[in-house]
Amino acid sequence: MLKTVAVIFGGKSAEHEVSIISGKSIAKNLNRKKFKVTEIFIDKKGGWFKNGKKQKAEEILQNVDIAFPVLHGTYGEDGTIQGLFEMLNIPYVGCGVAQSVLGMDKEFSKIIWKEHSLPVVKFKSIKKPAWQKNKKQALKEVSHLKFPLFVKPANLGSSVGITKVKNKKDLEKAIEIAFRYGYKVIIEESVKDAREIEVSLLGNDDVTSSVCGEIIPANEFYDYDAKYNNPNSKAIIPAKIDKKTSSKIKKTAEDAYKALNLHSLARADFLLSRKTGKFVISEVNTMPGFTPISMFPKLWEATGLPYQKLLTKLIDIAEQNFRQKSLWEI
Ligand SMILES: Nc1ncnc2c1ncn2[C@@H]1O[C@H](COP(=O)(O)OP(=O)(O)O)[C@@H](O)[C@H]1O
Ligand SMILES: [Mg+2]
Repeated sequence: MLKTVAVIFGGKSAEHEVSIISGKSIAKNLNRKKFKVTEIFIDKKGGWFKNGKKQKAEEILQNVDIAFPVLHGTYGEDGTIQGLFEMLNIPYVGCGVAQSVLGMDKEFSKIIWKEHSLPVVKFKSIKKPAWQKNKKQALKEVSHLKFPLFVKPANLGSSVGITKVKNKKDLEKAIEIAFRYGYKVIIEESVKDAREIEVSLLGNDDVTSSVCGEIIPANEFYDYDAKYNNPNSKAIIPAKIDKKTSSKIKKTAEDAYKALNLHSLARADFLLSRKTGKFVISEVNTMPGFTPISMFPKLWEATGLPYQKLLTKLIDIAEQNFRQKSLWEI
């Protein structure tokens, strides 16, 4: 009998619309000779729908063999939905709870990478209560960081709430903006004149990396507009970088994946300085975009793994991980 795969998309995050396109594309391309596909939509308020009918999540998931949550950002990529699958004992595509948390948190992931001697920018976080209590003191604690700085909500995506700050007088406002979106703000030194290089990763301890790709944002940095509105942002696959740099980036991507004990899949994003040729790992996305033109599947396609085979492989890994729950320990 065919296994039922539930493709879950939409969701409560700012990436709701992208998730719908990704989810629809996965549902369309899954190999029907191997799988029966159920589409599950989560609306912006968190309601679950199957065939247009609103139902309780646990009812919808009752006869599902494997869940494929194509949800980005908050409630999708941050360990919450993964916890639901764990409670219901359903195999699922993607990282476990703890790995999702670490991948999502821009501070925790960097702390771990730093500990593993992987290259990261200088950073410092501020938590809301400390900021509200004494802004002057909080600003003093980040005063060693050199401008320009990037100020970000520590647990968000899609460049929402991110400001590039060029001088001291604009810092306070940028921090206030980032705090609109969460409890913790991360302040990072910037990689000047950076090229944005991305690598796709697949597997468990046997992780493999794709060729490198490059994003050329249409704006000063890859902000929300450059990501979703401005048609002049470009993706170049493979990235035009020398072999040595490319294999170093690939190796670092694999090491960063292992350092967080990631499983299944991720996309690792790098900032490569045009001036020095040095790079840092900036972040990982444990459920990257999956539209037919998204970097994650495109990079695999360029590495010799076409979209449909990639999906089958992810489901195989999900079943394998379900049998080996100890993998989730960090
Ligand atoms: N430290 C940095 N130095 C240079 N550019 C940065 C830095 N941090 C972020 N950026 C720019 O901001 C964009 C969004 O930041 P990122 O941390 O990737 O957030 P998100 O999770 O929202 O994608 C990056 O793609 C890059 O263009
Ligand atoms: Mg990013």
